Amino acid sequence: MALVTVNELLFKAEEEGYAVGAFNANNMEIVQAILEAAKRENAPVIMQASQGAIAYAGLDFITEMVRLAAMASTVPVALHLDHGTDFDQVVRCIRSGFTSVMYDGSKLPLEENIALTRKVLEMTRPIGVSVEAELGKIGGTEDNVHVSEKDAMYTDPEEARYFVEQTGVESLAIAIGTAHGQYKGEPELDFDRLAKIKALVKIPIVLHGSSGVPDESVRRAIELGVRKVNIDTNIREAFVGEMRRVMMEKPDEIDPRKILGPAREAATAIISEKIRLFGSSGKA
Ligand code: G3H
Ligand code: 13P
Ligand code: ZN
Repeated sequence: MALVTVNELLFKAEEEGYAVGAFNANNMEIVQAILEAAKRENAPVIMQASQGAIAYAGLDFITEMVRLAAMASTVPVALHLDHGTDFDQVVRCIRSGFTSVMYDGSKLPLEENIALTRKVLEMTRPIGVSVEAELGKIGGTEDNVHVSEKDAMYTDPEEARYFVEQTGVESLAIAIGTAHGQYKGEPELDFDRLAKIKALVKIPIVLHGSSGVPDESVRRAIELGVRKVNIDTNIREAFVGEMRRVMMEKPDEIDPRKILGPAREAATAIISEKIRLFGSSGKA
């Protein structure tokens, strides 16, 4: 089927109380792994490309690979820009065929983030492309967040209410203690903050930096209103881990397919596991 929008997928997830997995698509094998996992689980899925992935693979390649995956599938697939920080990049992705974009103005002062998110929405509303915004600072795992810094970094519930009211944005990425990349210790999520945000903000909530978050915490976050869960690092670990294992086992192997094939299968396995955790199996 043709690519669907993220709004469409999250609307159903909100009604039925589960989350849709948003997996970073960095190369052909990972696109295929995401598709295969979604098919095996009969689940809706979001394939997302970061600015780094677009710079690596090329915008047309990413779009066409994901479009082809969607066309070859009976499960709904959306194509989303992950952490778009540049208005022109957002426009290029939409022109290329993305059905959803994240405009990430989280590093900007609040009013600038609001103004630019609004500008993106003015463009997307007439053409039906979905928009996610970010409020608060989702750290890198290298950033140690001290308790005293939490209020400065994490999403403020009242500010979230004001932001959504002012922008009319359709989904919101929040900072409640997750971070991108591999965690050093076990992440502790601020569930009280999430509950307060959800009480004030009636749109789907997005959890970034979800690789390495304990399953129990992911389940609780979904109970409290998270509807899109972003996973990249766990796929990288599974994919490269398997490549490394095969190359160690067969140091003379020179056929890339014999190395990348098992890596693709390892990625499929972890993505399937996440889809089950998010409760979206059987929801296609
Ligand atoms: O949010 C970060 C994603 O994992 C994308 O990472 O910019 O290295 O592609 P990347
Ligand atoms: P992880 O790499 O920590 O899974 O985060 C992914 C993400 O948030 C993409 O936007
Ligand atoms: Zn992210």
